Amino acid sequence: MTAKRAQTAKIYVPCDSGALALGADEVAAAFESAAEARQVALDIVRTGSRGLYWLEPMVEVATADGRIAYGPVAASDVDKLLDSGMLNGAEHPLRLGAAEEIPFLKRQTRLTFARCGIVDPLSIEDYRAHDGMAGLERALAMTPAEIIEEVTQSGLRGRGGAGFPTGIKWKTTREAEGAQKYIVCNADEGDSGTFSDRMIMEGDPFLLIEGMVIAGIAVGATEGFIYLRSEYPHAKRTLEAAIAVARQANLLGKSVAGSSHAFDIDLRIGAGAYVCGEETSLLESLEGKRGLVRAKPPLPAHHGLFGMPTVVNNVISLASIPVILERGAGVYHDLGTGRSRGTIPIQLAGNVKYPGLFEVGFGLTLGEIVNDIGGGTASGRPVRAVQVGGPLGAYFPRALFDMPFDYEAFAAQDGLVGHGGVVVFDDTVDMARQAHFAFEFCARESCGKCAPCRVGSVRGAERVAHIMNGEHIAENLRLVENLCNTMKHSSLCALGGAVPFPVMSAIRHFREDFDDHRAAAE
Ligand SMILES: Cc1cc2nc3c(=O)[nH]c(=O)nc-3n(C[C@H](O)[C@H](O)[C@H](O)COP(=O)(O)O)c2cc1C
Ligand code: SF4
Repeated sequence: MTAKRAQTAKIYVPCDSGALALGADEVAAAFESAAEARQVALDIVRTGSRGLYWLEPMVEVATADGRIAYGPVAASDVDKLLDSGMLNGAEHPLRLGAAEEIPFLKRQTRLTFARCGIVDPLSIEDYRAHDGMAGLERALAMTPAEIIEEVTQSGLRGRGGAGFPTGIKWKTTREAEGAQKYIVCNADEGDSGTFSDRMIMEGDPFLLIEGMVIAGIAVGATEGFIYLRSEYPHAKRTLEAAIAVARQANLLGKSVAGSSHAFDIDLRIGAGAYVCGEETSLLESLEGKRGLVRAKPPLPAHHGLFGMPTVVNNVISLASIPVILERGAGVYHDLGTGRSRGTIPIQLAGNVKYPGLFEVGFGLTLGEIVNDIGGGTASGRPVRAVQVGGPLGAYFPRALFDMPFDYEAFAAQDGLVGHGGVVVFDDTVDMARQAHFAFEFCARESCGKCAPCRVGSVRGAERVAHIMNGEHIAENLRLVENLCNTMKHSSLCALGGAVPFPVMSAIRHFREDFDDHRAAAE
């Protein structure tokens, strides 16, 4: 039993969805009742997640030597943890040591996620105390053109998937004619194995708000929308509360931080369609219509929401802005490789030993990410395939593990970085089934506007099903390849246009699963 503490002890328990799913609320409640029973003054701060999901719920305690982490903690562990002197950072089988020294965290370069898992997401004081608002303060002393130049010089490219340079998008919107301009934050995060947007919205929402405010000042927009996927109820609650706090603190409103700039944000909830993450479909949905993709041009920068010039940016793109403004474009640009500058929050998921979020400069090899950082598979079996970039990303074999994580290197191998999701499969995966799934997914999620995607996805699923039955394999593979070429070159958007990435990479790198599918499936 610990001695009664005169001072209030402080612990940090995540309230991020991932940690909640693993029992974080029960853990917080167990600490609260145990502290009451022991008459220990205990301050329980709810934070976002540090992104080490195999250790969640990870509880940290504030000590004279910094924050000491314990995890994964179950409610049933709480009494024993307190008995062992956890509030003083004492030894215990669940003790992980100083949080910042955990190798998975120590190896990262945390810029966008610098505060995530550390601060109380709804405390603007905590946000300021951890360098929040410094980017906005600098932006307010600059002209819009200077802000855009800083973003351009940083080399930031859109983290939503297409990798388009953010500075150029902002400049186009700034220069477009329009009585009203908008900033739309794409928070539809639907890619398999991705959760970085959610982590920021739940763990550091003022960062996203600050990024949107800076974007508004830069392009001359006074209104912003966050389009949030309906499957994120915790993010919704946190964002609603954060927007209210931001209004009170004058981060939002008629006079942002006492300046002559006005900016406010509305939160809108999507209805659960993957294609509504595509920017023009998203704009249709925001306007209250069915999420049908629009033909481009015109680009949203010229003719976006309600026909007005609009910036559509991903959560991570916008959340990267404050640190670029605060520290300067050069600091950001110095990280990364080739034309892929700055950091990328890699999300490790699927059959992987250490699932979680790893923010690092572009350029690590795929093998380093999967084996060194991810620890290989959770099943302990050999890694066979890795899908990067969501359901429309390519499957890579181990033979390509030397490939650096950057936009151009992935494109050269007919793949994409996408939103940075890395999903690992062991040697029990059936790649013909994965190719079938890609077509099926496309058929289910297609908006139906163009025939290559609407019809091609259904026909493709049929052909792969025939291959899986061992019927006319060579002929059906030829047809699938032809179909993929048609979909790639004549689909209206990247939903139909990118399905060839998973399908053709599965055929190219794992041909044996198609040639003799029944043997592979046995
Ligand atoms: C089918 C489809 C789904 C998409 N889903 C998302 C999404 O969930 N989130 C996102 O930010 N971008 C998504 N995108 C990319 C957007 O169309 C757009 O490129 C992005 O929001 C632009 O922001 P960025 O430049 O900051 O990346 C999707 C694209 C397609 C074709
Ligand atoms: S490719 Fe698919 S989702 Fe995109 S416009 Fe065509 S039918 Fe719609």
